[in-house]
Amino acid sequence: MLFIFNFLFSPLPTPALVCLLTFGAAIFLWLINRPQPVFPPVDLNKQSVGIEGGARKFPFQNDLMRCYFPDANTMYEIFQRGLAVSDNGPCLGYRKPNQPYRWLSYKQASDRAEYLGSCLLHKGHKPSPDQFIGIFSQNRPEWVISELACYTYSMVVVPLYDTLGAEAIVHIVNKADISTVICDTPQKASVLIENVEKSLTPSLKLIIVMDPFDDDLKQRGEKCGVEVLSLFDAENLGKENFRKPVPPNPEDLSIICFTSGTTGDPKGALLTHENIASNVAGFLKSIETVFQPTCNDVTISYLPLAHMFERVVQAVVYSCGARVGFFQGDIRLLPDDMKTLKPTVFPTVPRLVNRVYDKVQSEAKTPLKKFLLNLAVAIKFNEVKNGIIRRDSLWDKLIFAKIQDSLGGKVRFVVTAAAPISPPILTFFRAAMGCMVFEAYGQTECTGGCTITSPGDWTSGHVGAPLSCNYVKLKDVPDMNYFSVNNEGEICIKGLNVFRGYLKDPEKTQEVLDKDGWLHTGDIGCWLPNGTLKIIDRKKNIFKLAQGEYIAPEKIENIYTRSGPVSQIFIYGESLQSYLVGVVVPDPDVLPSFAVKLGIQGSFEELCQSKIVKEAILEDLQKIGKENGLKSFEQVKNIYIHPEAFSIENGLLTPTLKAKRTHLTKHFRAQIDSLYESIQE
Ligand SMILES: *[C@@H]1O[C@H](CO)[C@@H](O)[C@H](O)[C@H]1NC(C)=O
Repeated sequence: MLFIFNFLFSPLPTPALVCLLTFGAAIFLWLINRPQPVFPPVDLNKQSVGIEGGARKFPFQNDLMRCYFPDANTMYEIFQRGLAVSDNGPCLGYRKPNQPYRWLSYKQASDRAEYLGSCLLHKGHKPSPDQFIGIFSQNRPEWVISELACYTYSMVVVPLYDTLGAEAIVHIVNKADISTVICDTPQKASVLIENVEKSLTPSLKLIIVMDPFDDDLKQRGEKCGVEVLSLFDAENLGKENFRKPVPPNPEDLSIICFTSGTTGDPKGALLTHENIASNVAGFLKSIETVFQPTCNDVTISYLPLAHMFERVVQAVVYSCGARVGFFQGDIRLLPDDMKTLKPTVFPTVPRLVNRVYDKVQSEAKTPLKKFLLNLAVAIKFNEVKNGIIRRDSLWDKLIFAKIQDSLGGKVRFVVTAAAPISPPILTFFRAAMGCMVFEAYGQTECTGGCTITSPGDWTSGHVGAPLSCNYVKLKDVPDMNYFSVNNEGEICIKGLNVFRGYLKDPEKTQEVLDKDGWLHTGDIGCWLPNGTLKIIDRKKNIFKLAQGEYIAPEKIENIYTRSGPVSQIFIYGESLQSYLVGVVVPDPDVLPSFAVKLGIQGSFEELCQSKIVKEAILEDLQKIGKENGLKSFEQVKNIYIHPEAFSIENGLLTPTLKAKRTHLTKHFRAQIDSLYESIQE
């Protein structure tokens, strides 16, 4: 102990005696205020239980849970419950640069939703779940008001978002036959009008715009038969033509969530109110012994509302009468928004946690600082493991206060989802945050979540136990040597949160939803002895990168082999990384002349080792990728040039000449690791 003490304080300029007294006082205070551990509500050795047919379920619930609060069965009821339990408290927060948050109350939001919904009916929509309304906007209060406008009159929300590319917008508007879109900026409205001008989306008739816009836009719309209305005018119109709410039933459709497939157009997952209410129930049930949000809780909304993870988090928050503060719309200003809002509930994704981790690591420059940081993480995590979760220890004050403050200093509850998080980084975050950090797993087709880590289980490397709204089973995948008798197989989900299929796409629906109602996720999992699920592989050659985007490597390889000097290529992506790397075997007939143009000569092996050749090939790949429509996350960021072809003889190709991906990964492990390392520098 004395050693640590000396080590800690000797470099500081303060006189040793003061340090000694401070330290003594800290010890004394600690002894009298020693934190009490919180004991886990579940038996951590038995976090899920088996049922007939080999599936597993949440331990404390016999039937699947439909809703958590009996009066919150639909998104409409969830919001109305928030209004009631918060006694019309603050609901939706927003801010201008450098200003405090301003709040719309639950009643204000609900009134505006009724006006906007009445306007939609006035414009010819029917109060019925066959009416699809597009929302094309960044997260902001009007997003929630618009969706609530739909739910209040049993209509269905279809989020549009532009990260999938311009064609995706056209595809979604057409596939869902959308006539009305509510959007945030005149720029987005202009994109939508342009599509009509080009006769790409003939169904579109009405655009409601949140931000102010010029008359030009209105006139451009008129010319091609599209009415452009401001949100303000729309709400007034609805107020003058007010209609009583027509709330939906739980089994009615609530949202069509388009997801980026790996190939082809995005598919519209059909989700009902019951899907969402049951998923909300699942989360609340799993964490109820340690956390139930109240009106005093507040979450920050910055993850895209077009994705189900953020939508379910918000539904959880509204059902408890808590608040949602929106970021300003610029991820670079998120830290300032966090400091101003001081959220208590923080949903996040591994990419962001990784960034916090990298920043802290890079700031610990001297060996002493590194040592202290590692020591602090070890000591804090040791406490966490023993059920002590706090941020008032000496270590918090010395080391972690800065991280905690950068997230507002009040976070009580963190959940990470959307992609796998690296175990050491999760451990670091749990130690540093001094609050409960959960990891959830799922996909859009099960409304976002199907498992979550149990309170008290702060180990990492697994995704926890099934939620109370679904069963989880593992199905044999003989090709890949995974068998359920060994507790391994494809993760399949059945329950109230499982979607109704893809919009107008029975074929794609059949691929993932079997006749017994099991959703086949395509992820390979295994049951750990204590009943938690671990994700170990991906069926087919599809994987996710750290930012949650799906990658189909074969599609990319097919494009890249069009590059002249490339004979064979293997694309690889680490799910904990956010970019791809590749191994290229050059074409011995083309490489020499390719190199000569770069002013380089030598044997084939020498050319393969040339940095200039490598850079030139990488550039060519990226150029070809761009020309062929690869998205930026589908492009390789670094390559290794290998002189020997992949063949059946060296075990890197199958007898049918397909790449043996697992073998290739093993074979090039060292090169792959160094490719990732060299990008990080
Ligand atoms: C559950 O089991 C796994 C694998 O045996 C282990 O790594 C993990 O620590 C266990 N979790 C708990 C809370 O004991």
